[in-house]
Amino acid sequence: MFKNISEVLLEAKDLGISLLDAEILLANVLKTSKEQIFAYPEKEVFLEDYLKFKSFIKKRLDGFSVAAILKEKEFYGFDFYVSKNCLIPRPETEILVEKALECIIILQNNKKNVKILDIGTGSGCIPVVIAMKSDYSEFLAVDKSRKALKEAKKNIVRYDLESRIYLKESDLLKNVGDFDFDIITANLPYLPEKQMLDESVVKEPKMALIGGKDGMKFYGKLFKQISELNPKPKYLILEFGYGQAELVKRAVNKYFIDFYMELYDDLAGIPRISVIEFFN
Ligand SMILES: C[S@@+](CC[C@H](N)C(=O)[O-])C[C@H]1O[C@@H](n2cnc3c(N)ncnc32)[C@H](O)[C@@H]1O
Repeated sequence: MFKNISEVLLEAKDLGISLLDAEILLANVLKTSKEQIFAYPEKEVFLEDYLKFKSFIKKRLDGFSVAAILKEKEFYGFDFYVSKNCLIPRPETEILVEKALECIIILQNNKKNVKILDIGTGSGCIPVVIAMKSDYSEFLAVDKSRKALKEAKKNIVRYDLESRIYLKESDLLKNVGDFDFDIITANLPYLPEKQMLDESVVKEPKMALIGGKDGMKFYGKLFKQISELNPKPKYLILEFGYGQAELVKRAVNKYFIDFYMELYDDLAGIPRISVIEFFN
């Protein structure tokens, strides 16, 4: 026998890879589940699989996340294709999706299909999950990055949602056309320029991460554009960074008059999502 599962995992662990990461990567190579890996530690790993696993381990040691290596990430229970051209969906964004689903239920009382504009769609994870969870929603999803839009397209096709999610290249609202949306969702780049990027994001596109000096560059621009809309959407739902709640409140108060805003915490108890309801 060449090597067995537990020997291969131990080798990765000795190189500094966490057991969980090694199990996920090995399960992918062996086309099996993490549970099966755990249940059969004596099972043989053939040379070809071992070499593929070693190449994954090298990438992990070079700083690529497991999702970036496997080009796949689970978000809200759905699997998404990801690449170096888009942000890998994050768990906190699931709260944004949750809030959007709640807003759809409120709006559905008045009209059948709720129209949603997702700005900075990246992998398309936000509109895809909302569409999968709510039959009463249709979308325009925009991104400034053509490469990210290609990734979104793959995910939209994967879930057979081409008739409900349209894609467009647009710098914020620039190419959106006549505005006729009930909800805007946006997870725009919000990291401040000088913030050190931690290991988990350092390989992701800067265009998906950095939001100017204080991280508010894109939200500031977007708020200004929305303030000029008539009518405005009923809800604007956004994600922002650690410690940015005050900046968001200040910017919202600068651009809007007749609104109600609620902030929601992430799992660490830190405000990360804002739902703004407009009354005009
Ligand atoms: C933080 S990522 C979010 C991706 C995805 N919505 C998610 O939640 O995983 C921000 C996205 O905004 C896009 N973006 C950056 N600047 C933009 C702009 N001015 N207009 C539209 N999209 C922009 C980036 O290309 C990137 O895909």
